[in-house]
Amino acid sequence: MKKIALTGIKPTGILHIGNYFGAIKPALRLAEDYDARYFIADYHALNTVKDPQTLAAHIREVAAGWLAAGLNPEKVIFYRQSSIPETFELTTILMAFTSKGLMNRAHAYKAAVQENIQNQVDPDGGINMGLFTYPVLMAADILLFNPDVVPVGKDQVQHVEMAQDIAQGINFNYKGEILKVPQAVVQADVAVVPGLDGRKMSKSYGNTIPLFASEKQLRKLIMRIVTNSQAVEEPKDPETSQLYLLYKLFADSEEQDALATRYREGGMGWGEAKEELFRVANRELSPLRNRFEAIMADPAGLDAILAQGAAQARPLAQITLTRLRRAAGIET
Ligand code: ADP
Ligand code: TRP
Repeated sequence: MKKIALTGIKPTGILHIGNYFGAIKPALRLAEDYDARYFIADYHALNTVKDPQTLAAHIREVAAGWLAAGLNPEKVIFYRQSSIPETFELTTILMAFTSKGLMNRAHAYKAAVQENIQNQVDPDGGINMGLFTYPVLMAADILLFNPDVVPVGKDQVQHVEMAQDIAQGINFNYKGEILKVPQAVVQADVAVVPGLDGRKMSKSYGNTIPLFASEKQLRKLIMRIVTNSQAVEEPKDPETSQLYLLYKLFADSEEQDALATRYREGGMGWGEAKEELFRVANRELSPLRNRFEAIMADPAGLDAILAQGAAQARPLAQITLTRLRRAAGIET
């Protein structure tokens, strides 16, 4: 039997190429060797996205984005978190086994408190219970489906460790392996994709290249990438160039070597390097963009895919939940 991989995708903004290379591509590669369950964590997004039209749009765009990037819904169980009510019952059970102190130690919560203290406002100002208990809902997402591995970015490893702690507490209390203890996997070879200003590409910095930018917008954004003031004739170091780092993501190895040589020889200006980046980026992204537009133009088709995923996921969730309800004495 294949091992199980599970991950959640928070629909808090439109996808950018950092998400594509840092999360989507590695997860799709993993899905070739594992039984994958990938879902849209829409209730996690609700903690921060309070405008209904915005949330609804992000849910559709992110779901369509993964499909356009190559997620095959015949192979991957692909669903919305909100379509699996078992998640929320499991959350309630997990709450009874989660110490408040564990939540106090969560990085995201601690960072929010720290920011309030720095701004000299109430330490809990603007922090809702959804944010505070975020790791419990995430543990429920995970433990419901018995995954062996949970592919995540570095910032999410602590949350997976909390899911391990909670599962172990439950298994210890009921003296059995009621819940499978999962492992986090962080793709080691994934580079941090730089944004337009050279910092990590992130929607919080407003420095992103949207994954489904139009051709025109893509070129415009690439032309805006910050470079140094070296003149055309000067030799340039590809290894310290953010532009070259982006180029490497899209170009094959021959193209990478050829451009590196041109950097070192001098005689190539940044404008030309940007044109070359646009060429390879557009080559990879234009088929994705076309698929994305086709999926977005067929809302009923997208709903049907997500409904099929939910129909496959729910019976699996019910098995875990029933086992735990019985262990707990809630169901006899
Ligand atoms: P953002 O920083 O734009 O808010 P998220 O935190 O929603 O992005 O990230 C979703 C996923 O995409 C995570 O797995 C994260 O590790 C990955 N990711 C985001 N930005 C980058 C980046 N610049 N380089 C590599 N991976 C990234
Ligand atoms: N918290 C994750 C993030 O911000 C998203 C997420 C929700 C998740 N539930 C999950 C990831 C379960 C892995 C497993 O990216």
